[in-house]
Amino acid sequence: MDEFEVLRQEINQCTKCSLSKTRNNVVFGDGFRNAEIMCIGEGPGYYEDQQGKPFVGKSGQLLDKILEACGFNRKEHVFIGNIVKCRPPNNRDPLPEEREICIPYLYKQIELIDPKIIILLGATALKGLIDPNAKITKVRGEWISWNNRLVMPTFHPSALLRNTQLKKPVWEDFKKVVSKYRELVNKEHYSANC
Ligand code: URA
Ligand code: SF4
Repeated sequence: MDEFEVLRQEINQCTKCSLSKTRNNVVFGDGFRNAEIMCIGEGPGYYEDQQGKPFVGKSGQLLDKILEACGFNRKEHVFIGNIVKCRPPNNRDPLPEEREICIPYLYKQIELIDPKIIILLGATALKGLIDPNAKITKVRGEWISWNNRLVMPTFHPSALLRNTQLKKPVWEDFKKVVSKYRELVNKEHYSANC
């Protein structure tokens, strides 16, 4: 079995932290196994826990719409993952110890997928991957260089659903991703909107 499938099996059976006791399904991630773009969120919500798939609820639908506007989809361009793979009860933020126990899985996913571009969706993804003290309002929209990859932090789609004023900055951030994708991966990349 390929290393990625071994990792999938390991994560799907994981009981390393207490979120394993309340989850219905582990959410490994979804998308193209060799994607050049990875989107990283916080952790599964209600629908994700029910279906075992990331970003399938309201914010997931919005994320898919944004990706589509960029000419991207889960099948061909993007892999979507989370900081923690199991749903925190009542959608509370994942605790620092839960994040710490789970994060090696994300590192391994990043290593195996080997994307050129990582999009961090919201504060938990930013803090979990880059720096626990970083502020999303401060660093969003600017490329961060991390382990030979380019990281674009932006707001979480659920923040956009609460505050429509964030739509414009998020769109600016995704436009930067599209031009970087053209520069690094495919100069012919087509998108109807930018
Ligand atoms: N929000 C997240 O951060 N991740 C998901 O998978 C769904 C909603
Ligand atoms: Fe394992 Fe991560 Fe799920 Fe905790 S959240 S049980 S560490 S997969």
